[in-house]
Amino acid sequence: MRRARNNSTERLASAELAPGPKGNLILGVMSEFNRDTLGFIERMRDHGDVVRMRFFYLTAYFLYNPDDIEYVLSTNARNFIKARSLRTPFFKRLVGNGLLTSEGEEWKRQRRLAQPAFHRERISAYGEVMVEYTERMISLWKENEVRDIHRDMMRLTLEIVVKTLFDADISGDADRVGRVLAEMVKPFASQATLKWILDNRLPTPTHRRFNAAAKEIDEIVYRLIAERRSSGYDRGDLLSMLLAAHDEDGSQMSDRQLRDEVITLFLAGHETTALTLSWAWYLLAQNADVEKHFHAELDEVLAGRLPTVDDMPRLPYTEKIAKESMRLYPPAYALGREALQEFELGGYRIPARSQLFMFQWAMHRDPRYFTEPSRFYPERWTEEFINVLPKYAYFPFGGGPRACIGNYFAMMEVMLLLATIGQRFRFSLVPDHPVSLMPAMSLRPADGIKVVVDNRRSSG
Ligand code: HEM
Repeated sequence: MRRARNNSTERLASAELAPGPKGNLILGVMSEFNRDTLGFIERMRDHGDVVRMRFFYLTAYFLYNPDDIEYVLSTNARNFIKARSLRTPFFKRLVGNGLLTSEGEEWKRQRRLAQPAFHRERISAYGEVMVEYTERMISLWKENEVRDIHRDMMRLTLEIVVKTLFDADISGDADRVGRVLAEMVKPFASQATLKWILDNRLPTPTHRRFNAAAKEIDEIVYRLIAERRSSGYDRGDLLSMLLAAHDEDGSQMSDRQLRDEVITLFLAGHETTALTLSWAWYLLAQNADVEKHFHAELDEVLAGRLPTVDDMPRLPYTEKIAKESMRLYPPAYALGREALQEFELGGYRIPARSQLFMFQWAMHRDPRYFTEPSRFYPERWTEEFINVLPKYAYFPFGGGPRACIGNYFAMMEVMLLLATIGQRFRFSLVPDHPVSLMPAMSLRPADGIKVVVDNRRSSG
Protein backbone atom coordinates (compact mmCIF):
# COMPACT_ATOMS: atom_id res chain seq x y z
CA MET A 1 0.00 0.00 0.00
CA ARG A 2 1.40 3.36 -1.04
CA ARG A 3 0.34 5.40 1.95
CA ALA A 4 -0.07 4.22 5.50
CA ARG A 5 -3.61 4.64 6.75
CA ASN A 6 -4.73 5.20 10.27
CA ASN A 7 -8.39 5.97 10.64
CA SER A 8 -8.33 6.69 14.36
CA THR A 9 -10.72 9.47 15.42
CA GLU A 10 -8.00 11.90 16.60
CA ARG A 11 -6.02 11.51 13.44
CA LEU A 12 -9.06 11.97 11.21
CA ALA A 13 -10.09 15.10 13.07
CA SER A 14 -6.73 16.68 12.39
CA ALA A 15 -6.51 15.60 8.75
CA GLU A 16 -7.21 18.22 6.12
CA LEU A 17 -9.88 18.23 3.47
CA ALA A 18 -8.67 17.57 -0.06
CA PRO A 19 -8.11 20.42 -2.54
CA GLY A 20 -10.38 21.03 -5.50
CA PRO A 21 -12.21 23.57 -7.64
CA LYS A 22 -14.49 26.07 -5.94
CA GLY A 23 -17.30 26.01 -8.47
CA ASN A 24 -20.47 28.04 -8.55
CA LEU A 25 -22.00 29.24 -5.28
CA ILE A 26 -25.19 27.21 -5.76
CA LEU A 27 -24.54 24.50 -8.31
CA GLY A 28 -20.92 23.81 -7.46
CA VAL A 29 -19.24 22.21 -10.48
CA MET A 30 -22.46 20.78 -11.94
CA SER A 31 -22.65 23.04 -15.03
CA GLU A 32 -18.99 22.66 -15.87
CA PHE A 33 -19.26 18.91 -15.47
CA ASN A 34 -22.34 18.67 -17.67
CA ARG A 35 -20.87 20.91 -20.35
CA ASP A 36 -17.79 18.75 -20.97
CA THR A 37 -17.86 15.65 -18.78
CA LEU A 38 -14.79 13.85 -20.08
CA GLY A 39 -12.65 16.99 -20.31
CA PHE A 40 -13.69 17.94 -16.79
CA ILE A 41 -12.73 14.49 -15.47
CA GLU A 42 -9.30 14.85 -17.06
CA ARG A 43 -8.74 18.44 -15.92
CA MET A 44 -9.54 17.65 -12.28
CA ARG A 45 -6.49 15.41 -12.16
CA ASP A 46 -4.37 18.59 -12.04
CA HIS A 47 -5.59 19.23 -8.49
CA GLY A 48 -3.97 16.03 -7.23
CA ASP A 49 -4.81 12.39 -6.58
CA VAL A 50 -7.78 13.15 -4.32
CA VAL A 51 -9.93 16.05 -5.50
CA ARG A 52 -12.87 17.51 -3.62
CA MET A 53 -15.80 19.30 -5.22
CA ARG A 54 -19.47 19.99 -4.82
CA PHE A 55 -22.38 18.98 -7.06
CA PHE A 56 -25.21 21.17 -5.85
CA TYR A 57 -25.72 19.87 -2.29
CA LEU A 58 -23.50 16.77 -2.54
CA THR A 59 -19.79 16.58 -1.85
CA ALA A 60 -17.88 14.45 -4.32
CA TYR A 61 -14.31 13.26 -4.49
CA PHE A 62 -12.57 12.24 -7.68
CA LEU A 63 -9.77 9.69 -7.16
CA TYR A 64 -6.80 9.44 -9.47
CA ASN A 65 -4.44 7.06 -7.73
CA PRO A 66 -4.70 3.31 -8.37
CA ASP A 67 -3.89 2.48 -4.74
CA ASP A 68 -6.69 4.70 -3.50
CA ILE A 69 -9.08 3.14 -6.00
CA GLU A 70 -8.06 -0.30 -4.78
CA TYR A 71 -8.68 0.83 -1.21
CA VAL A 72 -12.24 1.92 -2.01
CA LEU A 73 -13.27 -0.86 -4.39
CA SER A 74 -11.49 -3.74 -2.78
CA THR A 75 -9.41 -3.48 0.42
CA ASN A 76 -11.94 -1.46 2.40
CA ALA A 77 -15.04 -2.17 0.27
CA ARG A 78 -17.13 -2.69 3.41
CA ASN A 79 -17.10 1.03 4.12
CA PHE A 80 -18.80 1.86 0.82
CA ILE A 81 -22.10 1.44 -0.95
CA LYS A 82 -22.97 2.38 -4.52
CA ALA A 83 -23.12 6.11 -5.20
CA ARG A 84 -26.35 8.08 -5.13
CA SER A 85 -26.41 8.22 -8.92
CA LEU A 86 -27.31 4.52 -8.92
CA ARG A 87 -29.98 4.91 -6.28
CA THR A 88 -32.46 7.25 -7.92
CA PRO A 89 -36.07 5.97 -7.95
CA PHE A 90 -35.93 6.04 -11.73
CA PHE A 91 -33.09 3.56 -11.83
CA LYS A 92 -34.52 1.49 -9.00
CA ARG A 93 -37.77 1.15 -10.92
CA LEU A 94 -35.78 -0.35 -13.76
CA VAL A 95 -33.43 -2.78 -12.03
CA GLY A 96 -34.97 -2.95 -8.53
CA ASN A 97 -32.70 -4.80 -6.15
CA GLY A 98 -30.73 -6.66 -8.76
CA LEU A 99 -27.02 -7.42 -8.42
CA LEU A 100 -25.90 -4.05 -9.71
CA THR A 101 -27.78 -2.02 -7.10
CA SER A 102 -28.44 -4.19 -4.03
CA GLU A 103 -26.30 -3.93 -0.90
CA GLY A 104 -25.27 -5.84 2.18
CA GLU A 105 -26.63 -9.28 2.97
CA GLU A 106 -29.18 -9.13 0.20
CA TRP A 107 -26.49 -8.50 -2.41
CA LYS A 108 -24.28 -11.24 -0.93
CA ARG A 109 -27.02 -13.84 -1.18
CA GLN A 110 -27.96 -12.86 -4.72
CA ARG A 111 -24.35 -12.93 -5.84
CA ARG A 112 -23.91 -16.38 -4.31
CA LEU A 113 -27.04 -17.63 -6.05
CA ALA A 114 -26.17 -16.12 -9.43
CA GLN A 115 -22.48 -17.08 -9.45
CA PRO A 116 -22.86 -20.68 -10.71
CA ALA A 117 -24.74 -19.41 -13.78
CA PHE A 118 -21.55 -17.54 -14.71
CA HIS A 119 -19.06 -20.36 -14.34
CA ARG A 120 -16.85 -20.74 -17.33
CA GLU A 121 -18.23 -24.14 -18.34
CA ARG A 122 -21.82 -22.91 -18.33
CA ILE A 123 -21.02 -19.68 -20.13
CA SER A 124 -18.90 -21.50 -22.72
CA ALA A 125 -22.05 -23.23 -23.91
CA TYR A 126 -23.22 -19.88 -25.27
CA GLY A 127 -20.26 -19.58 -27.63
CA GLU A 128 -22.09 -21.35 -30.41
CA VAL A 129 -25.11 -19.07 -30.12
CA MET A 130 -22.83 -16.04 -30.31
CA VAL A 131 -21.10 -17.21 -33.49
CA GLU A 132 -24.33 -18.44 -35.09
CA TYR A 133 -26.15 -15.15 -34.54
CA THR A 134 -23.16 -13.23 -35.88
CA GLU A 135 -22.97 -15.37 -38.98
CA ARG A 136 -26.65 -14.84 -39.58
CA MET A 137 -26.29 -11.09 -39.34
CA ILE A 138 -23.21 -10.68 -41.51
CA SER A 139 -24.55 -12.99 -44.21
CA LEU A 140 -26.78 -10.07 -45.19
CA TRP A 141 -23.97 -7.51 -45.47
CA LYS A 142 -23.00 -6.31 -48.91
CA GLU A 143 -19.71 -5.16 -50.31
CA ASN A 144 -19.30 -1.37 -50.24
CA GLU A 145 -22.49 -0.64 -48.36
CA VAL A 146 -22.44 1.97 -45.61
CA ARG A 147 -23.47 0.69 -42.18
CA ASP A 148 -23.64 2.09 -38.68
CA ILE A 149 -21.45 -0.49 -36.99
CA HIS A 150 -22.52 0.68 -33.54
CA ARG A 151 -26.18 0.06 -34.33
CA ASP A 152 -25.30 -3.37 -35.75
CA MET A 153 -23.30 -4.36 -32.69
CA MET A 154 -26.13 -3.19 -30.39
CA ARG A 155 -28.66 -5.26 -32.30
CA LEU A 156 -26.44 -8.31 -32.32
CA THR A 157 -25.54 -8.25 -28.62
CA LEU A 158 -29.20 -7.60 -27.81
CA GLU A 159 -30.24 -10.71 -29.71
CA ILE A 160 -27.50 -12.70 -28.00
CA VAL A 161 -28.36 -11.57 -24.48
CA VAL A 162 -32.07 -12.20 -25.03
CA LYS A 163 -31.32 -15.67 -26.37
CA THR A 164 -28.95 -16.53 -23.53
CA LEU A 165 -31.29 -15.12 -20.87
CA PHE A 166 -34.61 -16.46 -22.11
CA ASP A 167 -33.87 -18.85 -24.94
CA ALA A 168 -35.55 -16.54 -27.45
CA ASP A 169 -36.21 -18.96 -30.28
CA ILE A 170 -38.61 -20.90 -28.11
CA SER A 171 -40.41 -18.03 -26.46
CA GLY A 172 -42.02 -15.51 -28.80
CA ASP A 173 -42.04 -12.99 -25.95
CA ALA A 174 -38.31 -12.68 -25.84
CA ASP A 175 -38.08 -10.38 -28.84
CA ARG A 176 -40.68 -8.13 -27.31
CA VAL A 177 -38.75 -8.06 -24.03
CA GLY A 178 -35.67 -6.96 -25.91
CA ARG A 179 -37.53 -4.21 -27.75
CA VAL A 180 -39.28 -2.81 -24.69
CA LEU A 181 -36.17 -2.94 -22.53
CA ALA A 182 -34.17 -1.16 -25.18
CA GLU A 183 -36.90 1.52 -25.17
CA MET A 184 -36.74 1.76 -21.38
CA VAL A 185 -33.05 2.40 -21.16
CA LYS A 186 -33.18 5.20 -23.74
CA PRO A 187 -33.51 8.04 -21.21
CA PHE A 188 -30.40 6.74 -19.48
CA ALA A 189 -28.51 6.77 -22.71
CA SER A 190 -28.77 10.49 -23.13
CA GLN A 191 -27.62 11.71 -19.76
CA ALA A 192 -24.35 11.70 -17.91
CA THR A 193 -24.15 9.42 -14.88
CA LEU A 194 -23.79 12.16 -12.32
CA LYS A 195 -26.78 14.04 -13.66
CA TRP A 196 -28.81 11.31 -12.05
CA ILE A 197 -27.81 12.66 -8.69
CA LEU A 198 -30.74 14.99 -9.07
CA ASP A 199 -33.83 12.92 -8.94
CA ASN A 200 -36.42 14.19 -11.34
CA ARG A 201 -39.86 12.98 -10.38
CA LEU A 202 -41.83 15.28 -12.62
CA PRO A 203 -44.39 13.53 -14.82
CA THR A 204 -42.64 14.42 -18.08
CA PRO A 205 -43.46 12.48 -21.27
CA THR A 206 -40.17 10.61 -20.86
CA HIS A 207 -41.18 9.51 -17.39
CA ARG A 208 -44.63 8.47 -18.56
CA ARG A 209 -43.19 6.42 -21.42
CA PHE A 210 -40.68 4.91 -19.08
CA ASN A 211 -43.35 3.89 -16.58
CA ALA A 212 -45.56 2.38 -19.26
CA ALA A 213 -42.63 0.35 -20.60
CA ALA A 214 -41.69 -0.72 -17.07
CA LYS A 215 -45.22 -2.04 -16.56
CA GLU A 216 -45.16 -3.93 -19.81
CA ILE A 217 -41.81 -5.51 -19.07
CA ASP A 218 -42.91 -6.59 -15.62
CA GLU A 219 -45.95 -8.34 -17.06
CA ILE A 220 -43.89 -10.25 -19.62
CA VAL A 221 -41.03 -11.18 -17.30
CA TYR A 222 -43.34 -12.33 -14.52
CA ARG A 223 -45.31 -14.45 -16.99
CA LEU A 224 -42.10 -15.99 -18.35
CA ILE A 225 -41.03 -16.83 -14.81
CA ALA A 226 -44.42 -18.38 -13.98
CA GLU A 227 -44.34 -20.48 -17.16
CA ARG A 228 -40.85 -21.71 -16.39
CA ARG A 229 -41.71 -22.48 -12.80
CA SER A 230 -44.71 -24.56 -13.80
CA SER A 231 -42.96 -26.45 -16.60
CA GLY A 232 -39.88 -27.06 -14.43
CA TYR A 233 -37.87 -27.57 -17.61
CA ASP A 234 -34.19 -26.49 -17.71
CA ARG A 235 -33.55 -24.88 -21.06
CA GLY A 236 -29.93 -24.15 -20.20
CA ASP A 237 -30.51 -20.40 -20.41
CA LEU A 238 -29.65 -17.95 -17.63
CA LEU A 239 -33.25 -17.73 -16.45
CA SER A 240 -33.37 -21.51 -15.91
CA MET A 241 -30.13 -21.35 -13.96
CA LEU A 242 -31.33 -18.54 -11.76
CA LEU A 243 -34.60 -20.40 -11.18
CA ALA A 244 -32.77 -23.53 -10.14
CA ALA A 245 -30.28 -21.73 -7.87
CA HIS A 246 -30.78 -22.34 -4.17
CA ASP A 247 -29.03 -21.37 -0.99
CA GLU A 248 -27.51 -23.75 1.56
CA ASP A 249 -30.80 -23.68 3.47
CA GLY A 250 -32.66 -24.65 0.30
CA SER A 251 -34.24 -21.21 -0.23
CA GLN A 252 -34.57 -19.87 -3.78
CA MET A 253 -35.05 -16.51 -5.46
CA SER A 254 -38.50 -14.97 -5.27
CA ASP A 255 -40.25 -13.89 -8.48
CA ARG A 256 -39.43 -10.29 -7.65
CA GLN A 257 -35.72 -11.11 -7.25
CA LEU A 258 -35.70 -13.09 -10.48
CA ARG A 259 -37.31 -10.19 -12.32
CA ASP A 260 -34.74 -7.75 -10.95
CA GLU A 261 -31.81 -10.01 -11.84
CA VAL A 262 -33.06 -10.70 -15.34
CA ILE A 263 -33.46 -7.00 -16.09
CA THR A 264 -30.12 -6.20 -14.49
CA LEU A 265 -28.35 -8.80 -16.62
CA PHE A 266 -30.04 -7.52 -19.71
CA LEU A 267 -29.03 -3.96 -18.93
CA ALA A 268 -25.49 -4.69 -17.77
CA GLY A 269 -24.81 -7.34 -20.34
CA HIS A 270 -25.45 -6.03 -23.77
CA GLU A 271 -24.63 -2.39 -24.34
CA THR A 272 -21.21 -2.64 -22.69
CA THR A 273 -20.23 -5.52 -24.95
CA ALA A 274 -21.65 -3.78 -28.04
CA LEU A 275 -19.60 -0.71 -27.20
CA THR A 276 -16.36 -2.64 -26.79
CA LEU A 277 -16.91 -4.12 -30.23
CA SER A 278 -17.91 -0.82 -31.82
CA TRP A 279 -14.86 0.98 -30.49
CA ALA A 280 -12.63 -1.91 -31.55
CA TRP A 281 -13.87 -1.65 -35.16
CA TYR A 282 -13.44 2.10 -35.01
CA LEU A 283 -9.84 1.77 -33.84
CA LEU A 284 -9.01 -1.04 -36.26
CA ALA A 285 -10.29 1.05 -39.16
CA GLN A 286 -7.73 3.71 -38.28
CA ASN A 287 -4.73 1.49 -37.59
CA ALA A 288 -3.68 -0.47 -40.64
CA ASP A 289 -0.74 -2.24 -38.96
CA VAL A 290 -2.87 -3.54 -36.11
CA GLU A 291 -5.57 -4.60 -38.54
CA LYS A 292 -3.01 -6.49 -40.62
CA HIS A 293 -1.69 -8.35 -37.59
CA PHE A 294 -5.28 -9.13 -36.53
CA HIS A 295 -6.14 -10.57 -39.96
CA ALA A 296 -2.93 -12.60 -40.03
CA GLU A 297 -3.80 -14.20 -36.69
CA LEU A 298 -7.36 -15.01 -37.76
CA ASP A 299 -6.27 -16.43 -41.10
CA GLU A 300 -3.56 -18.56 -39.54
CA VAL A 301 -5.56 -19.93 -36.61
CA LEU A 302 -8.96 -20.31 -38.21
CA ALA A 303 -8.09 -20.68 -41.89
CA GLY A 304 -11.66 -19.82 -42.89
CA ARG A 305 -13.58 -21.96 -40.41
CA LEU A 306 -15.82 -20.47 -37.71
CA PRO A 307 -14.23 -19.77 -34.31
CA THR A 308 -15.20 -21.70 -31.19
CA VAL A 309 -14.59 -21.13 -27.50
CA ASP A 310 -11.62 -23.52 -27.72
CA ASP A 311 -9.91 -21.17 -30.15
CA MET A 312 -9.77 -18.35 -27.62
CA PRO A 313 -6.35 -19.21 -26.16
CA ARG A 314 -5.00 -19.38 -29.72
CA LEU A 315 -6.08 -15.83 -30.48
CA PRO A 316 -3.86 -13.78 -28.15
CA TYR A 317 -3.64 -10.78 -30.46
CA THR A 318 -7.43 -10.60 -30.75
CA GLU A 319 -7.59 -10.59 -26.96
CA LYS A 320 -5.06 -7.76 -26.83
CA ILE A 321 -7.19 -5.78 -29.28
CA ALA A 322 -10.17 -6.22 -26.96
CA LYS A 323 -8.13 -5.11 -23.93
CA GLU A 324 -6.63 -2.13 -25.69
CA SER A 325 -10.03 -1.02 -27.02
CA MET A 326 -11.43 -1.10 -23.48
CA ARG A 327 -8.42 0.87 -22.32
CA LEU A 328 -9.02 3.74 -24.74
CA TYR A 329 -12.82 3.59 -24.74
CA PRO A 330 -13.91 1.92 -21.51
CA PRO A 331 -17.67 1.26 -21.80
CA ALA A 332 -17.93 1.70 -18.02
CA TYR A 333 -15.93 4.93 -17.83
CA ALA A 334 -16.81 5.86 -14.23
CA LEU A 335 -17.61 4.07 -10.98
CA GLY A 336 -19.20 5.67 -7.95
CA ARG A 337 -19.42 4.86 -4.26
CA GLU A 338 -20.70 6.52 -1.11
CA ALA A 339 -18.72 6.40 2.12
CA LEU A 340 -20.59 4.97 5.10
CA GLN A 341 -18.10 6.22 7.67
CA GLU A 342 -15.53 8.97 7.65
CA PHE A 343 -12.11 7.74 6.55
CA GLU A 344 -8.73 8.92 5.38
CA LEU A 345 -7.26 8.81 1.92
CA GLY A 346 -3.85 10.13 0.92
CA GLY A 347 -3.65 12.17 4.11
CA TYR A 348 -7.06 13.76 3.59
CA ARG A 349 -10.15 13.37 5.69
CA ILE A 350 -13.18 12.18 3.77
CA PRO A 351 -16.46 12.64 5.63
CA ALA A 352 -19.24 10.05 5.77
CA ARG A 353 -21.77 10.24 2.91
CA SER A 354 -19.22 11.71 0.49
CA GLN A 355 -19.65 10.52 -3.10
CA LEU A 356 -16.45 9.00 -4.50
CA PHE A 357 -15.84 8.70 -8.20
CA MET A 358 -13.19 6.67 -9.97
CA PHE A 359 -12.70 6.97 -13.68
CA GLN A 360 -11.52 4.31 -16.06
CA TRP A 361 -11.56 7.13 -18.58
CA ALA A 362 -8.83 9.01 -16.70
CA MET A 363 -6.79 6.09 -15.34
CA HIS A 364 -6.58 4.23 -18.64
CA ARG A 365 -5.10 7.29 -20.29
CA ASP A 366 -2.79 8.32 -17.47
CA PRO A 367 0.75 8.83 -18.83
CA ARG A 368 2.17 7.69 -15.47
CA TYR A 369 1.07 4.16 -16.36
CA PHE A 370 0.72 4.06 -20.13
CA THR A 371 3.36 5.37 -22.49
CA GLU A 372 1.86 7.11 -25.49
CA PRO A 373 -1.52 6.85 -23.78
CA SER A 374 -3.65 7.87 -26.75
CA ARG A 375 -2.01 5.41 -29.13
CA PHE A 376 -3.96 2.24 -30.02
CA TYR A 377 -1.19 -0.24 -29.41
CA PRO A 378 -2.37 -3.77 -28.49
CA GLU A 379 1.29 -4.92 -28.40
CA ARG A 380 1.72 -3.11 -25.07
CA TRP A 381 -0.19 -5.91 -23.29
CA THR A 382 2.79 -8.19 -22.66
CA GLU A 383 3.03 -10.37 -19.53
CA GLU A 384 5.83 -8.14 -18.22
CA PHE A 385 3.75 -5.00 -18.68
CA ILE A 386 0.75 -6.55 -16.94
CA ASN A 387 2.95 -7.63 -14.04
CA VAL A 388 4.20 -4.11 -13.31
CA LEU A 389 0.97 -2.23 -14.01
CA PRO A 390 -0.82 -1.25 -10.77
CA LYS A 391 -4.02 -3.28 -10.60
CA TYR A 392 -6.35 -0.30 -10.62
CA ALA A 393 -4.61 1.61 -13.39
CA TYR A 394 -6.70 -0.60 -15.71
CA PHE A 395 -10.07 -1.79 -14.43
CA PRO A 396 -12.63 -2.04 -17.23
CA PHE A 397 -14.63 -4.57 -15.21
CA GLY A 398 -14.27 -2.81 -11.84
CA GLY A 399 -12.81 -4.81 -8.97
CA GLY A 400 -13.22 -6.13 -5.46
CA PRO A 401 -16.43 -7.84 -4.35
CA ARG A 402 -18.61 -5.82 -6.76
CA ALA A 403 -16.53 -6.64 -9.84
CA CYS A 404 -18.39 -7.55 -13.01
CA ILE A 405 -19.96 -10.99 -12.81
CA GLY A 406 -20.15 -11.13 -16.61
CA ASN A 407 -16.44 -10.53 -17.23
CA TYR A 408 -15.84 -13.90 -18.91
CA PHE A 409 -19.14 -13.78 -20.77
CA ALA A 410 -18.14 -10.38 -22.16
CA MET A 411 -14.59 -11.33 -23.15
CA MET A 412 -15.84 -14.46 -24.85
CA GLU A 413 -18.48 -12.54 -26.75
CA VAL A 414 -16.09 -9.78 -27.80
CA MET A 415 -13.43 -12.23 -28.99
CA LEU A 416 -15.81 -14.56 -30.83
CA LEU A 417 -17.60 -11.70 -32.57
CA LEU A 418 -14.34 -9.96 -33.50
CA ALA A 419 -13.03 -13.22 -34.94
CA THR A 420 -16.20 -14.18 -36.79
CA ILE A 421 -16.67 -10.77 -38.36
CA GLY A 422 -12.97 -9.93 -38.81
CA GLN A 423 -12.43 -13.06 -40.81
CA ARG A 424 -14.90 -11.95 -43.44
CA PHE A 425 -15.01 -8.17 -43.32
CA ARG A 426 -12.97 -5.07 -42.73
CA PHE A 427 -14.27 -1.53 -42.40
CA SER A 428 -13.24 1.96 -43.44
CA LEU A 429 -14.67 5.00 -41.71
CA VAL A 430 -17.02 7.19 -43.71
CA PRO A 431 -14.95 10.41 -43.93
CA ASP A 432 -17.72 12.99 -43.53
CA HIS A 433 -19.18 11.32 -40.46
CA PRO A 434 -17.29 12.54 -37.39
CA VAL A 435 -17.41 10.22 -34.40
CA SER A 436 -17.84 11.95 -31.07
CA LEU A 437 -18.11 10.62 -27.56
CA MET A 438 -21.20 10.70 -25.41
CA PRO A 439 -20.56 9.83 -21.79
CA ALA A 440 -24.03 8.56 -20.84
CA MET A 441 -24.53 5.52 -18.60
CA SER A 442 -21.74 4.09 -20.70
CA LEU A 443 -19.31 5.62 -23.17
CA ARG A 444 -21.18 5.77 -26.46
CA PRO A 445 -20.51 7.24 -29.89
CA ALA A 446 -22.95 10.18 -30.02
CA ASP A 447 -24.09 9.64 -33.60
CA GLY A 448 -23.05 6.08 -34.27
CA ILE A 449 -20.01 4.93 -36.25
CA LYS A 450 -20.55 4.92 -39.99
CA VAL A 451 -18.36 2.54 -41.96
CA VAL A 452 -18.01 1.20 -45.47
CA VAL A 453 -18.07 -2.59 -45.57
CA ASP A 454 -15.28 -4.35 -47.40
CA ASN A 455 -15.56 -8.10 -47.96
CA ARG A 456 -12.04 -9.46 -47.33
CA ARG A 457 -12.73 -12.54 -49.40
CA SER A 458 -13.86 -10.73 -52.50
CA SER A 459 -10.99 -8.23 -52.27
CA GLY A 460 -8.45 -10.98 -51.72
C1 HEM B 1 -17.35 -5.32 -21.98
C2 HEM B 1 -18.42 -5.60 -21.27
C3 HEM B 1 -18.63 -5.24 -19.82
C4 HEM B 1 -18.05 -4.25 -19.06
C5 HEM B 1 -17.01 -3.23 -19.50
C6 HEM B 1 -18.61 -4.35 -17.73
C7 HEM B 1 -18.25 -3.54 -16.67
C8 HEM B 1 -18.72 -3.69 -15.38
C9 HEM B 1 -18.25 -2.94 -14.25
C10 HEM B 1 -17.17 -1.87 -14.28
C11 HEM B 1 -18.93 -3.36 -13.15
C12 HEM B 1 -18.74 -2.87 -11.70
C13 HEM B 1 -19.69 -1.76 -11.35
C14 HEM B 1 -19.37 -1.15 -9.99
O1 HEM B 1 -18.40 -1.53 -9.36
O2 HEM B 1 -20.10 -0.24 -9.58
C15 HEM B 1 -19.86 -4.37 -13.60
C16 HEM B 1 -20.75 -5.04 -12.78
C17 HEM B 1 -21.66 -5.96 -13.22
N1 HEM B 1 -21.75 -6.49 -14.50
FE1 HEM B 1 -20.58 -6.01 -16.07
N2 HEM B 1 -19.52 -5.37 -17.71
C18 HEM B 1 -19.57 -5.94 -18.96
C19 HEM B 1 -20.33 -7.03 -19.34
C20 HEM B 1 -21.24 -7.67 -18.56
C21 HEM B 1 -22.04 -8.81 -18.96
C22 HEM B 1 -21.93 -9.50 -20.32
C23 HEM B 1 -22.86 -9.12 -17.91
C24 HEM B 1 -23.89 -10.21 -17.77
C25 HEM B 1 -24.26 -11.04 -18.70
C26 HEM B 1 -22.57 -8.18 -16.84
C27 HEM B 1 -23.19 -8.15 -15.61
C28 HEM B 1 -22.78 -7.38 -14.53
C29 HEM B 1 -23.43 -7.44 -13.21
C30 HEM B 1 -24.61 -8.30 -12.81
C31 HEM B 1 -22.70 -6.55 -12.39
C32 HEM B 1 -22.95 -6.28 -10.91
C33 HEM B 1 -22.13 -7.26 -10.10
C34 HEM B 1 -22.27 -7.10 -8.60
O3 HEM B 1 -22.32 -5.98 -8.08
O4 HEM B 1 -22.30 -8.15 -7.93
N3 HEM B 1 -21.57 -7.32 -17.27
N4 HEM B 1 -19.70 -4.57 -14.95
